[in-house]
Amino acid sequence: MGAKIIDGKAIAESLREEVKQQVSERVSQGLPVPGLATVIVGDNPASKVYVRMKHKACQEAGILSIGHELPADASQNEVEALVKKLNEDPKIHGILVQLPLPAGLDEESVLNTIKLQKDVDGFHPINIGRLAQKGREPLFIPATPSGVMYLLENSDAPLDGANAVVLGRSNIVGMPVSLLLVRANTTVTICHSHTKDIPAVTREADILVAAVGVAEYVRGDWIKPGATVIDVGVNRVEDASRKRGYKLVGDVAYDEAKEVAGAITPVPGGVGPMTIAMLLRNTLRAARLVDEKT
Ligand code: GUN
Repeated sequence: MGAKIIDGKAIAESLREEVKQQVSERVSQGLPVPGLATVIVGDNPASKVYVRMKHKACQEAGILSIGHELPADASQNEVEALVKKLNEDPKIHGILVQLPLPAGLDEESVLNTIKLQKDVDGFHPINIGRLAQKGREPLFIPATPSGVMYLLENSDAPLDGANAVVLGRSNIVGMPVSLLLVRANTTVTICHSHTKDIPAVTREADILVAAVGVAEYVRGDWIKPGATVIDVGVNRVEDASRKRGYKLVGDVAYDEAKEVAGAITPVPGGVGPMTIAMLLRNTLRAARLVDEKT
């Protein structure tokens, strides 16, 4: 039997619609339009594509979004001065510094400069630290990990007591998603480049989250029959049959995996759209934090 396909695109669309309605309601009550500022440093083409998509989504949801671009040779002081200016801008409720930053910039120091209440990406060391601690609550949870959890919580897969395996330990996805899975009472194993016999580990997973950035890394016979597979990867592979010369595939060999898994996210149309929906939710939440204070 084939796996249930988890339609992240449709789920994200309904979340975006919800945010749009809530934004419209608050504006009709005279509350400020939520505002997001993005910061790109350098010319990373993927970052530019992602940030453009975030602005488009903000516009559709009625959220103000203002983009800032700094050259690749911008100094630490220049980047942090911009963040500090945005910290003080009352129209801006959320600040997103697109990662990765060019080599030579101190990422942690930049993220530490973002006002905690405006950290809609959830990467501020205090927010991440709180995520890692029992009984503490971060103000914001990073968008992609929270999109993964939303898909899992709204699937049929029981989380409590399940074996979850996360492939990858990045600051942006692997590590925060692992922390969230622990909070959801799963037993988590994190695999990385030093892990021995990864297929033997993934075969024990009731829930498998792949975030390694390697095209079709996970094969069908690495998956436990009936498992829920969440594919975070977005990789370009050559495809001469397409006009643009490439296609997008995930970290999971989808055609093989869907024959074994109980449920699976496609690429594209799985986790990707959830990232943007969660960023919009976080931006609305940031605006509400200001409402509560005033
Ligand atoms: N780079 C890749 N994903 C993300 C993200 O969710 N936020 C930021 N700021 N940078 C990223």
